[in-house]
Amino acid sequence: MNKINVAIVGLGFGGCFPEIYNYHPNVNTVGVFDTDKNRLDTFADRLGLKKYRSFEEILEDKNIDAVHLVTPIPLHEDQTVKVLEAGKHCACTVPMATSVDGIKRITEAKRRSGKNYMMMETTLYTYQFFYVKNMIESGELGQIQFMRGSHYQDMSGWPDYWMGLPPMWYGTHAIGPMVALSGSRIKRVICFGSGTMEPWLSEQYGNPFPVESALFEFENGMKGEATRSLFETARMYQEGMFIYGSKKSFEWGFTDGDDPYITTLGELGNGRGKYTEYKKTEMPNFHQSLPEEIQRFTVGGNFDPLNPQDSLKKGSGGGHHGSHPHLVNEFVRSIIEDRKPWIDEQLGGNITAAGLCAHESAMKNGEQIFVPKY
Ligand SMILES: NC(=O)c1ccc[n+]([C@@H]2O[C@H](COP(=O)([O-])OP(=O)(O)OC[C@H]3O[C@@H](n4cnc5c(N)ncnc54)[C@H](O)[C@@H]3O)[C@@H](O)[C@H]2O)c1
Repeated sequence: MNKINVAIVGLGFGGCFPEIYNYHPNVNTVGVFDTDKNRLDTFADRLGLKKYRSFEEILEDKNIDAVHLVTPIPLHEDQTVKVLEAGKHCACTVPMATSVDGIKRITEAKRRSGKNYMMMETTLYTYQFFYVKNMIESGELGQIQFMRGSHYQDMSGWPDYWMGLPPMWYGTHAIGPMVALSGSRIKRVICFGSGTMEPWLSEQYGNPFPVESALFEFENGMKGEATRSLFETARMYQEGMFIYGSKKSFEWGFTDGDDPYITTLGELGNGRGKYTEYKKTEMPNFHQSLPEEIQRFTVGGNFDPLNPQDSLKKGSGGGHHGSHPHLVNEFVRSIIEDRKPWIDEQLGGNITAAGLCAHESAMKNGEQIFVPKY
């Protein structure tokens, strides 16, 4: 099999993906569905895509090999299980599910179906993530001493299902890079919830906290911390990754668009403490690993193949720091190559479950919680 047929469900954030699939050399046809008919018509007609009238119609279509879900969070578990049970490969946006039982249900459906599951975690394919991964693999960073993740975002005015969501239920952007770079899995967490918010926000999920901050223990002994805010907290948007090594460290800029800081630990001079210096560092693009047809989606609309680095500066960000085409490529290529995708049900399951267990810990005032193994 050299080409697959894909359907995308949910065209809010999901609207970033149909065009990328459409240009991928291993994709034959792209279909779309959204319960919002106007949105569906606008997308399908503009890009000339096949329009589905229901989710079930996609499940019943024998020509569809793979489904990418970008629907509201409470639907992820059920829709993923249905896609896998229909004998199709499934990619789903984050989080994987909203309960540890939900993750287990998905891993079991995946095993029964023999199809691929991929959690489409954007932070694991950003320019910044590729850069840090290279620093670790080349030995430049030295030994990882500590990791931090952050995700500050104000969700007022977002759709109803977001209102009062426990911050760590959507902790994946803060937790994901730590798990992926650790070469291990999170096994234990303690977490505190902090702050107060308007009482109505606590009603939907019984969550009293606008902010949650967690400490994680990894199976290989590493430790990491993540902080997540969703409501009534004055902080610039940031999905930050902070990796502290014995030789160098990588720290995200203050806002999400700022260049990161690389700090180098130098030699000990005559005084106390080693010499340190830091440098704000421009990120290179990592488009080369992608098929040429979709490289331009790493930077939005301004990609110049003759000068990709310059395009990066002029570009509109390319959606979550260039990650969208990498996610599409990994999902599609894993199917074509008949292998598991990198962010499979185990990696995605650990990242999501660590956040779910963190919230459980916060609700028990910091009690330690062991993260189930999938
Ligand atoms: N960086 C990231 O990874 C990232 C960023 C943004 C959103 N997300 C995730 O993407 C998902 C969607 O986010 P959003 O901001 O577009 O949400 P949204 O709620 O604004 O939009 C979801 C879309 O799905 C449609 N929809 C609702 N129910 C549906 C159903 N049963 N079948 C088909 N379509 C349906 C809606 O009409 C809407 O167009 C969320 O789960 C969110 O967690 C991830």
